[in-house]
Amino acid sequence: TTTAHRVEPENNDHKPLGHGRMLRKEDPRFVRGRGRYVDDVQLPGMLHLAILRSPVAHARIVSIDVTAAQASPGVRAVVTGEALGEQGLAWMPTLSGDVQAVLATDKVRFQGQEVAFVVADDRYAARDALELIDVEYDMLDPVIDARTALAPEAPVIRDDLDGKSDNHCFDWETGDAEATERVFAAADVVVSQDIVYPRVHPAPMETCGAVADFDPVEGKLRLWSTTQAPHAHRTLYAMVAGLPEHKIQVISPDIGGGFGNKVPIYPGYVCAIVGSIVTGKPVKWMEDRSENLISTGFARDYVMRGEIAATRDGKILAIRTNVLADHGAFNGTAAPVKYPAGFFGVFTGSYDLQAAYCKMTAVYTNKAPGGVAYACSFRITEAVYLVERIVDCLAYRLEMDPAQLRLKNLLRPEQFPYTTRTGWVYDSGNYEPTMRLAMEIAGYEELRREQAEKRERGELMGIGIAFFTEAVGAGPRKDMDILGLGMADGCELRVHPTGKAVVRLSVQTQGQGHETTFAQIVAEEIGIPPDDIDVLHGDTDNTPFGLGTYGSRSTPVSGAAAALVARKVRDKARIIASGMLEVSVADLEWRKGAFHVKGDPGRSVTIQDVAMRAHGAGDLPDGIEGGLEAQICYNPSNLTYPHGAYICVVDVDPGTAQVKVRRFIAVDDCGTRINPMIIEGQVHGGLTDGVGMALMEMIAFDPDGNCLGASLMDYLIPTALEVPDWETGFTVTPSPHHPIGAKGVGESATVGSPPAIVNAVVDALKPFGVSHADMPLTPSRVWDAMRGAARPP
Ligand code: CDP
Repeated sequence: TTTAHRVEPENNDHKPLGHGRMLRKEDPRFVRGRGRYVDDVQLPGMLHLAILRSPVAHARIVSIDVTAAQASPGVRAVVTGEALGEQGLAWMPTLSGDVQAVLATDKVRFQGQEVAFVVADDRYAARDALELIDVEYDMLDPVIDARTALAPEAPVIRDDLDGKSDNHCFDWETGDAEATERVFAAADVVVSQDIVYPRVHPAPMETCGAVADFDPVEGKLRLWSTTQAPHAHRTLYAMVAGLPEHKIQVISPDIGGGFGNKVPIYPGYVCAIVGSIVTGKPVKWMEDRSENLISTGFARDYVMRGEIAATRDGKILAIRTNVLADHGAFNGTAAPVKYPAGFFGVFTGSYDLQAAYCKMTAVYTNKAPGGVAYACSFRITEAVYLVERIVDCLAYRLEMDPAQLRLKNLLRPEQFPYTTRTGWVYDSGNYEPTMRLAMEIAGYEELRREQAEKRERGELMGIGIAFFTEAVGAGPRKDMDILGLGMADGCELRVHPTGKAVVRLSVQTQGQGHETTFAQIVAEEIGIPPDDIDVLHGDTDNTPFGLGTYGSRSTPVSGAAAALVARKVRDKARIIASGMLEVSVADLEWRKGAFHVKGDPGRSVTIQDVAMRAHGAGDLPDGIEGGLEAQICYNPSNLTYPHGAYICVVDVDPGTAQVKVRRFIAVDDCGTRINPMIIEGQVHGGLTDGVGMALMEMIAFDPDGNCLGASLMDYLIPTALEVPDWETGFTVTPSPHHPIGAKGVGESATVGSPPAIVNAVVDALKPFGVSHADMPLTPSRVWDAMRGAARPP
């Protein structure tokens, strides 16, 4: 069943879940400026590390002279790739099974690549010494446009790989090519469109960094680092360095935004570790904004051709797509091994199709490595953009209202669980009420009337719709692993004698409010108030193993683990309570926070009474050990599939081609809602990201491979000025397999908003005969589109 709400339901402040006004437990430290980030870590005798980066995109290294740098005041060490190579550390594995240079030895392969590092007494001395390193480069032609990467004359970028004679990275396909071809051949209408999702950057507020402290006496490495996946990183360091895991402690303290940027292992982390080993001191590396933008994991960069087949009256029959994926110089994506294109397979969207097929080719180019899941579950953003744009192209061709076209084709509730034509099993969904609620909040019919009147007057108003289904919560481990590590997550719950508790998680918050929401989940299950539950994460010595936070997997995976571990504790508490009340377990009734004797409401014990008994004097029932704690590792049986309907209203200035997002209506369905305020914050943030991608953001390069977006003066990100007051609503369709019915939500808005905004702009330009324009829809691009001169993206 689904319930629909335009605004928050009635006050439910007394309940741990869906708590209307529960403030975030972590905020007192953040609003007081007392957050503790990696750059706040100060250790006695700590040194500072700076990285020399390649000024060019593709060149052979002829020589590196570090003599002057070594003699520079305050310098403790200067390390090159050659020195690392002698220790077998010049190359490291990436989380997608490729290798990446820690420091370049043979060639540089993108502008900004790490070439050498300096460790010095302070940040200034380290940076000054970089200027004294003399590198001689022998320039090579760069490959910048993915469309030319496979040309026979293209220089081979990855000649480090044995037998590599071209820039091919991988091929991937999904769906049924022949069945899709048959449906296309027989269809009344076929629409094709070239669609580019440009390279963008997650650009978190905090850049990446690390403090490494290797203690040669203990033989132990402590690494504070900006990582969304501390346990996975630790295992990788163990594999590379040959150190056992218990000799490596990865601590991920407060993180100033991750958005996928902090999933990969960056050369800087490894340099900091080597720097500490070489100098015998703690070493800090913090990159600056430009380094973050030019060298760390970018996102998207897909050149797509979308095709849709339909009947004349608007029944969608099939979707086909061909994708050229630009992975940069090293494949630095963190995608599950079986899914090199992430979850792009959900490009069939929210519609009931007869057939679908995708063929993808990925290539290497002389650009920064990446392909990270920027606020999305492994390439879902690209998939949703493709389907929602091509459906709008179909509406344009059929002269149908895009909302009506979607309503006609959305999956129906009785079709769930629904297996898509590419093999994904959508767990639950009830799409039409979500769509209708968005239309109701928007006042859709009225908006169309307003638009018609404005068109008469030559004013450019557009209404854009996007309906999305996401797939979040990777595992299950049988299908999904990263470098052989199964995608499941541990959780441990300990109830102290006084009835307060600590829950330890393998996922890692980056601002999403986990310290609050995980306490709420445990509170719901075990009756201890959220304020009495401490949430620990981000320290591999003190938390159970798991794969970390990205792809909105925390709630679907670790949220389920937290609920189940609490139930395990409750089961034990029930046995202890039965002993305390001298009744059988079957005679006990659990009502939020206490066990009651059935039919005798006066006799009960609270969970706090049980906690004290579990640790205290007196006998416990036979076979029951003291203490009140449990541990589990949760392996999800499926992903969760949140959905949403977004409607965007834009005005385009006919004189300047400036786009103004006037209204944006977002109705999200993430199943059971844990904390409505946090969900709203996640949605607001994601929608703002969407405005950035749709209208402003692009990492561009000149033909020589110089990155043109190396600062926030050039790489524009949205501010409060560019965004409207968001209008949100929600429906609730619980996940059938998640213990509390919750689905993820952290990334829904980033996924769903770009197509809604682009569809709105294209709709505004309809009087000019425009049926597509590529992001980012800057004034110059909109101007060109209005004049029928769309530039090559
Ligand atoms: O993995 P990540 O934390 O980035 O994403 P998520 O699991 O979607 O959760 C983002 C935040 O929203 C967390 O604090 C969740 O607990 C909260 N949330 C919620 O309150 N209710 C849901 N159904 C899903 C997420």
